[in-house]
Amino acid sequence: MKKKHWFIWLLLPALFFTVGCKDDNGDPDPVWQATPYDFEIPIGFPTRLNIPDDNPLTVEGVELGRYLFYDGRMSGRTHPDSLMSCASCHRQERAFDLGADHPYYTDPDGRPWGLTGIKTPHATLPLFNLVWNHEGYLWNGMIHKGNTNLGSVAYNIPALPEYHMKNIESLVWMGIAAPHEMHGHPDRTVALFQTITDPDYPKLFERAFGTPEITYERMSKAVAQFIRTIVSSNSTAHKAWRGEANFTDMERMGWMLFMTEEGADCFHCHGGDGSPLMTTHLFYNNAKDTCFTGVCANPRDRYAVTGNERDRGAFKATSLINIEHQGPYMHDGRFATLDDVIQFYNSGLKYSEYAHPLMHKLFPPYYNGMSLNPIQLQQLKAFLLSLTDNELLTNPKYSNPRPDNPFFISW
Ligand code: HEC
Ligand code: HEC
Repeated sequence: MKKKHWFIWLLLPALFFTVGCKDDNGDPDPVWQATPYDFEIPIGFPTRLNIPDDNPLTVEGVELGRYLFYDGRMSGRTHPDSLMSCASCHRQERAFDLGADHPYYTDPDGRPWGLTGIKTPHATLPLFNLVWNHEGYLWNGMIHKGNTNLGSVAYNIPALPEYHMKNIESLVWMGIAAPHEMHGHPDRTVALFQTITDPDYPKLFERAFGTPEITYERMSKAVAQFIRTIVSSNSTAHKAWRGEANFTDMERMGWMLFMTEEGADCFHCHGGDGSPLMTTHLFYNNAKDTCFTGVCANPRDRYAVTGNERDRGAFKATSLINIEHQGPYMHDGRFATLDDVIQFYNSGLKYSEYAHPLMHKLFPPYYNGMSLNPIQLQQLKAFLLSLTDNELLTNPKYSNPRPDNPFFISW
């Protein structure tokens, strides 16, 4: 034993000497490198991820992004009344959606008030599994890789490289600049972060990007990284599909209805046919309004993006994972509860020349909807509720990193 100890004591100084020598010889300091983030693709989820080449996920980038996501000073202001964070509207306990119970910002139509009292044009979207979306972000998919319409330069959002108006990175600046959200200016937010005396930020930036410098690009990249790591894959339904849990009989019957054309016929647009994402990420007009040109002229529908007549009144068929928490429902929040939505699909469809052909229940012999009986409706609802992933809602990885700090706000 003693011999071994002697050996180690002899070795240690030798080790220091070798390391020291390197510097003395004028070799460059070790190159800064952030730690690659180990992104685990859940069983059955697609392997193709939407991560720009120039913004790979790193442990340190994600951590910085989490801080910024919850920091109310992203609004560019520090007065308690003027704080607003991304989490003000994207709340973890509501699957990073707003939720029908939001204490301050909700009106019955589900559109929150921005910081200066202007309403968002649409209901809020949840933030999870976005790294699998290749078809475009927002209700109409305007933010998309192939986007050539860089119209929101109107908000004075600085033109960032590559992904400007094309990916989540630019949504960070839209959140800050949009009059109906933080109603700020990116310059102001960056300037504020450059001056706030917070001992952690310089370190967080340095670890994530190599130097403590605070820039537009770094802030948006970090928040986008954090958002890309938000994964929801542990609902009862997902566990049942993986053989880790069992559906109740009600849930299983509901799933069958969901998956069959004679039943509820939901799967064409909301996935579920082998895709655990529960969305196709595509855009449809789901027959909510008697619709003809003029009536369906929504300035922010899918038509506004594509100019294709068939896209009038079409919006994204959002993921139904955590749908329990996504209310009020539809892009305009017109349905307060899940029961209202089910009732709509059962007997409330409205004829429209723009309704998507996959709205089979609009056509003979149905016309108004699924026409399910009350028990089937309960089964369908039970299945939809089995898509709630409680682990997402409470996972500390995604939570407010400083709940006790008054600047860090989550609603
Ligand atoms: C005032 C409320 C509000 C705040 C604050 C807010 N958002 Fe949003 N967010 C929305 C609304 C509403 C939508 C849907 C807008 C639409 O499609 O018309 C949305 C959509 C998104 C989407 C697109 C999701 C998808 O599936 O396409 C992302 C990403 C996003 N927000 C990120 C952020 C980030 C990052 C911040 C902080 C910088 C932020 N949001 C702050 C209300 C808000
Ligand atoms: C033709 C495609 C299509 C079919 C079929 C369809 N949906 Fe939808 N669904 C959509 C679209 C598009 C939206 C968003 C529409 C909007 O916001 O205006 C939506 C929205 C929803 C929402 C609200 C989402 C939210 O976040 O607000 C729920 C819940 C829903 N659908 C459930 C169902 C169920 C259950 C079925 C089967 C009975 C079904 N859908 C069938 C396309 C479809």
